Amino acid sequence: MRSRTDHWSFLFGEIALYSLVVLFVTGAGLTVFYDPDMSLAGYDGVYTPLRDVPVSRAFASTMEISLEVRGGLLLRQVHHWATLVFVAAVCLHLLRLFFTGAFRRPRGLNWLIWVGLLVLGMAAGVTGGVLPDDMLSGGSLGLIQGITQSVPLVGSYLTGLLFGDAVPGERVIPLFYWVHVLVLPLVMAGLFAARRWLLRRHGRTHYPGAARVSRPASFALFAVTAGVLTLLGTVAEINPIWLYGPSRPGTIGAGAVPDWYMGFLDGAIRIMPGWEPVIAGHPLTLSVLIPALVVPGGFFTLLAAYPLIERRLTGDRGLHHTLDRPRDAATRTGLGAAGIAFYGLLWAAAANDQLAHHFDLSLFAVTWFFRVAVVVGPVVAFEVTRRVCLALRWQESQLLTHGVETGVVVRSPQGGYTEVVRAPSRVPSRT
Ligand code: HEM
Repeated sequence: MRSRTDHWSFLFGEIALYSLVVLFVTGAGLTVFYDPDMSLAGYDGVYTPLRDVPVSRAFASTMEISLEVRGGLLLRQVHHWATLVFVAAVCLHLLRLFFTGAFRRPRGLNWLIWVGLLVLGMAAGVTGGVLPDDMLSGGSLGLIQGITQSVPLVGSYLTGLLFGDAVPGERVIPLFYWVHVLVLPLVMAGLFAARRWLLRRHGRTHYPGAARVSRPASFALFAVTAGVLTLLGTVAEINPIWLYGPSRPGTIGAGAVPDWYMGFLDGAIRIMPGWEPVIAGHPLTLSVLIPALVVPGGFFTLLAAYPLIERRLTGDRGLHHTLDRPRDAATRTGLGAAGIAFYGLLWAAAANDQLAHHFDLSLFAVTWFFRVAVVVGPVVAFEVTRRVCLALRWQESQLLTHGVETGVVVRSPQGGYTEVVRAPSRVPSRT
């Protein structure tokens, strides 16, 4: 039993770590059967609807894992579910660090590690999603090709570097395979090791007034995380590639959407106007460049640099081991709400077609709504949140100054009336 500050919001980081362990274990199992080869041959597996259809070895081996290797489908599904949970846990952990000011000195590096883990987790999800070479993988490759080609001056060169002479060619999946199973996992494991070292060096933060309590060793949480992921992989079908069929350049199913963590990018691309000015005889594809590179690049750079920005603006260079309550830092909390609104609206915009269809609205009206909302929404979210924080602080200060009303009014011997107030039973210390 270790003694540590116990608050449920501290668990997200650990859940992320345990999901990554599950990813490593299931990923290692998948490498035994998976073949990162894009050369085509007639499908000769057990799934008769695809019999003799030309498919890549990558697709055929993933089909084999799913339908012929005993326990293979479970491995794939647990691997995929662990990805979704990993990225979600990293996001929630980052939110906790942000809203409590846990990124302040001396923990700036820890913040950067978590932002890095988010970006690498997304990269691992994208490179992994391409590996089965099914129709959705083909859609992702098409998008990746479009994004690399939109880069001014070096776009064609980058595309050639990734795909070779032809798109999709036979180069990209083997390349992504090594990035996916070796490079990204090594860097991510290194970041977790660095985080552990930092934790030992600086100790843990704690909420103001929180008692230090002990809780069972983390193996229990690992078992629960692995158990829930296995349960999800058992009962909740995910990425059934036999229904999608093999990748075909230029083909994508109706209603296809990426994994949840890439939704914001999809949304940004969907609502961007089709701007493509011609400069000195060369087209500049702003309609892809802005939503796919400038917006996410700016967003994650701001996120990474936030501790520095806050330190500059507030001049607070002190060491902080006690966490802030979100209401105590109204501007920061407002900015966080603005960030969530921006990300959330881009994310929701990835469902513009579904929203239009289900609510019987015009697709153009929905798209225009999101174009306006991604600009106005964050401003409104900032102001509303900041005011709520300030109001909560004011309410608390009132309580501390005037006490709690009891509803009992007494008459003094002189004839005056006064209400009996009592001191608050608990000075608020947590959110
Ligand atoms: C040691 C680490 C890892 C290894 C050896 C590994 C290996 C593999 C292999 C061989 C595949 C292709 C088989 C298939 O698609 O079913 C795959 C797919 C995939 N991987 Fe990994 N992986 C690792 C880590 C990760 C991480 C860290 C993530 C994300 C955070 C991730 C996300 C995915 C996804 C989303 C797929 C597609 C799964 C599907 O087919 O539905 N992997 N991985």
